[in-house]
Amino acid sequence: MSIPIFLLSLLSTLTAGQPPPPLRGYLINCGSKNDLVQDGIKYTKDDSYTVTGTLKTLNRTDILSVLTTLRYFPYGKNGKHCYTFPVTNGAKFLIRTTYFYGGFDGGTEPPIFDQIIDGTTWSTVNTTEDYRNGLSSYYEIIVTANDKTVSVCFACNEHTKSGSNPFINSLEVLDLDSSLYNSTDFGKYGLVTVARSIFAFDGDIVRFPDDPFNRYWQPFVDGNPAVEAHANVTSSEFWNRPPAKVFLSGATTSRGKNLTLQWPPFSLPTNRYYVALYFQDSRSTSPYSWRVFTVLINSETFYQDLNVTTKGVTVYGTEWPLSGDTQITLTPRSDMPVGPTINAGEIYQILPLAGTTLGRDVMALQMLRQSIRNPPDDWNGDPCLPKEHPWLGIGCSEGKEIRVTSLNLKGLSLIGTLPKEIAGLTALKEIRLSMNKLTGPIPDLSPLKSLEILHLDENEFEGPFPDALGTLPNLRELLLNKNRLSGGPPQNLIERKGMILRT
Ligand SMILES: *[C@@H]1O[C@H](CO)[C@@H](O)[C@H](O)[C@H]1NC(C)=O
Ligand SMILES: *[C@@H]1O[C@H](CO)[C@@H](O)[C@H](O)[C@H]1NC(C)=O
Ligand SMILES: *[C@@H]1O[C@H](CO)[C@@H](O)[C@H](O)[C@H]1NC(C)=O
Ligand SMILES: *[C@@H]1O[C@H](CO)[C@@H](O)[C@H](O)[C@H]1NC(C)=O
Ligand SMILES: *[C@@H]1O[C@H](CO)[C@@H](O)[C@H](O)[C@H]1NC(C)=O
Ligand SMILES: *[C@@H]1O[C@H](CO)[C@@H](O)[C@H](O)[C@H]1NC(C)=O
Repeated sequence: MSIPIFLLSLLSTLTAGQPPPPLRGYLINCGSKNDLVQDGIKYTKDDSYTVTGTLKTLNRTDILSVLTTLRYFPYGKNGKHCYTFPVTNGAKFLIRTTYFYGGFDGGTEPPIFDQIIDGTTWSTVNTTEDYRNGLSSYYEIIVTANDKTVSVCFACNEHTKSGSNPFINSLEVLDLDSSLYNSTDFGKYGLVTVARSIFAFDGDIVRFPDDPFNRYWQPFVDGNPAVEAHANVTSSEFWNRPPAKVFLSGATTSRGKNLTLQWPPFSLPTNRYYVALYFQDSRSTSPYSWRVFTVLINSETFYQDLNVTTKGVTVYGTEWPLSGDTQITLTPRSDMPVGPTINAGEIYQILPLAGTTLGRDVMALQMLRQSIRNPPDDWNGDPCLPKEHPWLGIGCSEGKEIRVTSLNLKGLSLIGTLPKEIAGLTALKEIRLSMNKLTGPIPDLSPLKSLEILHLDENEFEGPFPDALGTLPNLRELLLNKNRLSGGPPQNLIERKGMILRT
């Protein structure tokens, strides 16, 4: 979806009455050294949430300030580059990424790359067409946190041209009430915004403060006649809490006729979608102000004989299969003296989540990262997932439970120690840490019963020889030479058949 790079007459809506409650969540002005207030929304600088990338400022004064700065990440085949936000486990979020290329790298076409939420590839970012049309682009997804952090990452994909860098201008992680979109199983799925529209409305995008969660409601105008509402709905009582403002206009047609919308106004890939439609009878409230019609999507009944009053109503489908063009038809009951009407709609693609690495393994790796002074740049986000973008040097199992099975950080000049928590990575088969500058004792690795290969040679480990290694049943390669250990290997390792042992 796109929005103009010069916006928005939001300020007019901010003047009257009480100030709205502030937005909850993270609103990030990427690549900036300063916080920024724009249209009554405070965007903070991004350096507390990411450790990689380079800041860039577009030399333009004619566009929204939040678009003039960006952060870009080095081109590379596998690595992902993440923002990580502390959150409450189980909380629900709308995450929005906003992109405006602006030729920041001296080129003419925006880079194409992937965006990732935790362990799941969310989508490809291709802003080529919007950029050509002088627009910025945004993407949205609704997810719940399955840990105490949520990460949003960027990575090259097969369409990323060599040397072109993934980038991001602004990132929002907005708290949603838990009741919103609650018919979806967010343990298994995310909802990717396809369209969120107000029908027969040609004003500006409706968003905060009209929408308390800063969802963007785009105007959608086709040939259908518009009606204006003569009664207000109570937005807080509505399923999904659409802002009251989206009910102020609606599309309708004359008595006895079907109302047909081609919406969303583009072809959809074959998939399952969450569809929510919002209706209100536009007349003044009275005992007679209601109308009944049937809602069809692509000629299939979505809701039979819906009774729409001035209080308004939502109907939704949690997993509706769609493909190609979509047509919404409202067919009035034959005795209705007025035509059908519709005010707003939301449509989301249902995105199966790829899961996450086992929490215990993630925690152990986080301890390892903390005990190394110069950990790899891409050690952020999920260690194993998505499969195409694991952390540097991390190998993982597949299947239901994703575990870390190998650690290979040979010759990276790592400075630091091995924390005892590394013994929590109980699925490890291989540890290759040769040729670094690791110091301190070798922790007790006896819980690593699957360990076959342990290379810690050419470091600066000290202390006694780790005798407990003799209890590892599968160990067959042990390199500990060129350290400062005292003592030697236990007899059973020396005698083990086929053992490769250098101490
Ligand atoms: C920014 O653009 C203006 C006008 O195009 C130009 O005069 C100025 O030198 C540019 N500044 C930088 C730092 O490139
Ligand atoms: C990116 O978008 C442009 C313009 O719509 C399109 O021509 C191009 O094929 C897209 N590239 C990819 C890799 O999807
Ligand atoms: C979803 O939220 C609505 C309130 O908007 C509530 O009535 C309903 O019980 C909730 N459903 C679930 C499954 O939590
Ligand atoms: C709806 O609410 C607005 C703002 O509170 C008010 O100005 C308007 O008169 C109301 N409209 C109706 C029809 O009640
Ligand atoms: C309205 O839609 C219904 C259901 O698709 C269809 O049976 C009917 O013929 C349509 N009526 C008109 C006037 O197009
Ligand atoms: C529609 O709802 C209104 C208000 O609740 C009610 O008066 C009316 O009888 C309903 N119409 C039908 C056909 O159920």
